[in-house]
Formats: sequence, C-alpha cells, structure tokens
Amino acid sequence: MKKLIATLFILSTTLLYAAEKLEEITLNSCVTFNTLCAKCHEGQCSRRLTFNTGSEAASNHIKRYSEDSDISKKTVEEFFTLLNFMKKECLLYMPQNAKYNQNNLASFATSTYKEYFIPLGLLKKGDYSLWIKTQEDNPFDVKIISKEFDSYLDISVCQSLKKREFGFKVDEDTDYFLRIKSKKPLHLEILEIKEVSTK
Ligand code: HEC
Repeated sequence: MKKLIATLFILSTTLLYAAEKLEEITLNSCVTFNTLCAKCHEGQCSRRLTFNTGSEAASNHIKRYSEDSDISKKTVEEFFTLLNFMKKECLLYMPQNAKYNQNNLASFATSTYKEYFIPLGLLKKGDYSLWIKTQEDNPFDVKIISKEFDSYLDISVCQSLKKREFGFKVDEDTDYFLRIKSKKPLHLEILEIKEVSTK
C-alpha cells in the first residue's frame, strides 16, 4: 500500500511538472514551433514521446530549422515539450493568455517576419470575414486551421492591394489559428475577424 501511495505521489508530481512546463513556454518558442517546425512535424500524433538526450544530431536539427544558431538549452527543451504535447494530445498549443490586438501583431511573427502564427481564439460555427492589411505588398500565403489541425482557409495572396478581405466558414466551435507565410519580410498592420450574418 505504501508503495502504491509513493508511486501515485511520484506520478501526480510528474504530471503537474509537465503541465507547468508547458505553461512556462515562451510565446516566441510557440510561434517558431508552430511555423518553422510544424512544416514537417504538424499532426504527428504517434503518442510516442521523444526525450531530450542532448544528442548533437537533435540539437543541430533544431538549430538548423529554428534558424537560431545560438539557441539556448532552455529553448531546445521547450521545443521537446511542444513536440511531445503535439504527439500526445494531438492538438496545437499556444499560451492561453496569448491574445492578439492591433498593437501586438509583431509578437506573433518569427524573427525574420516571414511567418506568423496568431491565435484567433474560440470561433463558433458560422461564416466569417478576415481583413488583413500589410505594410508591404509582397505575395503571401494565408491559412486558418483549427487546434485539431483541420484546415479552413488556404490561399495564396498575389501582389495587389494592401488591404484584403477573405471569407471563410467554420463548422465546429473550437479554437482557430491563422498562419501566414511570406518569402519576404511582411509587417501586419491590421488583422480583423468579423462574423458575417447570413440570415
Ligand atoms: C524539413 C522537415 C523538418 C523540419 C522543418 C523540422 N523537422 Fe524535426 N524531424 C524531421 C524528421 C524527418 C525527423 C526524423 C523522423 C521523426 O522522428 O519524426 C525529425 C526529428 C526530430 C526530432 C527527434 C524526434 C524523435 O521522435 O526522435 C526532434 C526533437 C525534432 N525533429 C524537432 C524539431 C524542431 C524543434 C524543429 C523546428 C525548430 C524541427 N524538428 C523542424 C523533419 C523536420
């Protein structure tokens, strides 16, 4: 019985520790993971966890794809936690308190400003319009995905007007994310989502 209690105690503290670690992950690491790493690792739901053994190969792999040659041990550890969350829960992760407004859009960009990952929050089933205004008139790709990795909008925007409107429809009440990818640095000025009444 004592043994069982001890095991349960260890189990619950490791679970708590894991949850805390997830909450400590910086917004920056989440944005990098959900753009640069997700390209290949998105939707890996094997439930087979990966442990950081500190191997040279893994850290070179992470350095290369995060485009950060001075990457800290802490950031590498955060990427392992994010990859394991994806594998285990089969969901996208962003910090709960990460909410965009018109003044903090840059904090959802990677350091090169070529990728963005913006949490749109909970959207209810329905029709929406998305407005994007950018400083530059570079072409870029826009995607909207649910936290379960379902795709709802996937378009390439050609060089044209700087303020653009896109319509999209979602069929589930869940959390959604906006992903932007551009070949050249792109600065977002406005991002707006509005529910469209179809009645
Ligand atoms: C071009 C595709 C690609 C990109 C981008 C990429 N990876 Fe990988 N990664 C792979 C492949 C392929 C493997 C080996 C197969 C596997 O385990 O999934 C791998 C393996 C790994 C492993 C070891 C996994 C295991 O189960 O042993 C880790 C950790 C990892 N990647 C983290 C990252 C992180 C963090 C990033 C972003 C900074 C990243 N990867 C970007 C393709 C990629």
